Amino acid sequence: MSTAKKEYKRITTRSLIEMKSNGEKISMLTAYDYTMAKIVDGAGVDVILVGDSASNVMAGHETTLPITLDQMIYHASSVIRAIDRALVVVDLPFGTYQSDPKKALRSAIRIMKESGGHAVKLEGGKEIKDSIKRILNAGIPVMGHLGLTPQSIYKFGTYTVRAKEEAEAKQLISDAKMLEKIGCFAVVLEKIPAKLAQQVAQSISIPVIGIGAGSDVDGQVLVLHDMIGMTHEFNPRFLRRYMNLYEDMTHAISQYVTDVKDVAFPNESEQY
Ligand code: KIV
Repeated sequence: MSTAKKEYKRITTRSLIEMKSNGEKISMLTAYDYTMAKIVDGAGVDVILVGDSASNVMAGHETTLPITLDQMIYHASSVIRAIDRALVVVDLPFGTYQSDPKKALRSAIRIMKESGGHAVKLEGGKEIKDSIKRILNAGIPVMGHLGLTPQSIYKFGTYTVRAKEEAEAKQLISDAKMLEKIGCFAVVLEKIPAKLAQQVAQSISIPVIGIGAGSDVDGQVLVLHDMIGMTHEFNPRFLRRYMNLYEDMTHAISQYVTDVKDVAFPNESEQY
């Protein structure tokens, strides 16, 4: 069901909380560069996530672990130069916040100062509570991330659905309530049962953005390159592809190769 939408010239953390209380769903997509961010922002997406999925999508790593703070700052500053409306949230990469709260704050400050991002996202619950509090105390907005947290892939051992067992589900609910209580402005829930995600969304006042978490949450996020079909080997059930750019681009590029070989490009009107 769609509801009447309020016009927002610029999305802030407050706008998102307002959207939740007005029943307006929040749209979020990743972007890692200027050109893509310009399109995503122009199309009206509310939140742009400069995700550490850049490690997979942009750099070709198998996991999100190798990406560095400097690389995240580079991606985020490229995105920031493109946007007029969206709120830009930047992932703190693996190893920049888990070890101690002071280091976490230093990493978050670097993101805010050097990229111009508007907020940071951290993966985890009670185990990183002190780091999150430290960042929040410095006036930096924090988005939480629970459920499947890809930075912990070597602990989980698999990218399968999380929190199917009662104990993990209970811990997730308690972590979500803790994130709300200490002052996070939103939380991402990744790859958990839809019923559990609904229960979390109903029990906290901050927006819950889902990826593989069903429709009864306050918004959705996808990795841009997956939803436009630029990637084609990653096919989880939760992914809807709105285009098949992998095929379209392959076709266009092989046509270009043929045209160059056949001297069909450039033609008379394409030269001086
Ligand atoms: O890095 C990322 O793209 C993310 C989303 C999958 C939520 O964290």
